[in-house]
Amino acid sequence: MIFRRSLLFASLAAMCATGAWAQSAWPSKPVSLIVPFAAGGPTDVVARSLAASMSRTLGQTVLVENKLGAGGTVAASYVARAAPDGYTFFIHHNGMATAPALYRKLAYNPLTDFEFVSQAVDVPMTLLARKDFPANNLQEMIAYVRANQSKINLANAGLGAVSQLCGMMFERAIGVKLTAVPFQGTAPAMNALLGGQVDILCDQTTQTIPQIKAGAVKFYGVTTRNRIKALPDAPTLAEQGLKDFEVIVWHGIYAPKGTPKPILEKMNAAVRTALKDPDVTRRMADLGAEIAPDSKLSPEGLHSWLKSEIDKWGPIIRASGTFAD
Ligand code: MLT
Repeated sequence: MIFRRSLLFASLAAMCATGAWAQSAWPSKPVSLIVPFAAGGPTDVVARSLAASMSRTLGQTVLVENKLGAGGTVAASYVARAAPDGYTFFIHHNGMATAPALYRKLAYNPLTDFEFVSQAVDVPMTLLARKDFPANNLQEMIAYVRANQSKINLANAGLGAVSQLCGMMFERAIGVKLTAVPFQGTAPAMNALLGGQVDILCDQTTQTIPQIKAGAVKFYGVTTRNRIKALPDAPTLAEQGLKDFEVIVWHGIYAPKGTPKPILEKMNAAVRTALKDPDVTRRMADLGAEIAPDSKLSPEGLHSWLKSEIDKWGPIIRASGTFAD
């Protein structure tokens, strides 16, 4: 009897020492999901939609926290240094892949300083201007921008934001250089566009569809190769002459390096459940987002996708000469 009890204590002590106890009880308190841009913007919309469903699956609140700055790199640096205890996760988009080329001094390595959970949704972008911008279709808009480029500004969410990437590709496609106006997310950039303080914004459908449908902005086309279901009558930029213009925003979920594998597996299962949740699928479809296919939902799938995106965007960004010290 005494022998059996001491065996029990010994195995309990071993479980605590290895963290196995903490892992099996995970999560025993709210879990943070860090969003690198402003509340109310496209990344935040995706994060909050997933978080509501994941909270139900995990039995603990998944708390969305917005950590702003430097096109998402402030939040990524924070997560790379956070405790790997299963209570900090991170959602980020293409910026995870473009930052190494854009920032000469990046405080983290996207491929080696994180654990990988899953991809989530793919989101098209839309090219917009303020409502009273003097151009009613893409051809008029390009002609007006070329003729007035010194007077026109382009809002974005900083170096590393997809709005910056899309804006830079648009400038290159039509051969202009506009004045960039950076915000800490496209939620404030959209407010500035609605208020007429900025001229042009390329932004994700997860934020722009309501404004397009309300006629609150001028809308010139979508950045996908094919038209999208949520805006079936909207032409793509490519079909209107900007040949090969394509930007799709993908989202990955990460954790600090060293987060225990059993916790990563539970988180991956919670993400997969969220991506099948009718509340999430309906909202994402209304906002033009596509649920990532099963092949993109493994940690390995996210890691190899991120590597391919770093390899793809690095040379394009370096050739553009866009970077921050
Ligand atoms: C946001 O949530 O504000 C956006 O994802 C910013 C961007 O990358 O353009």
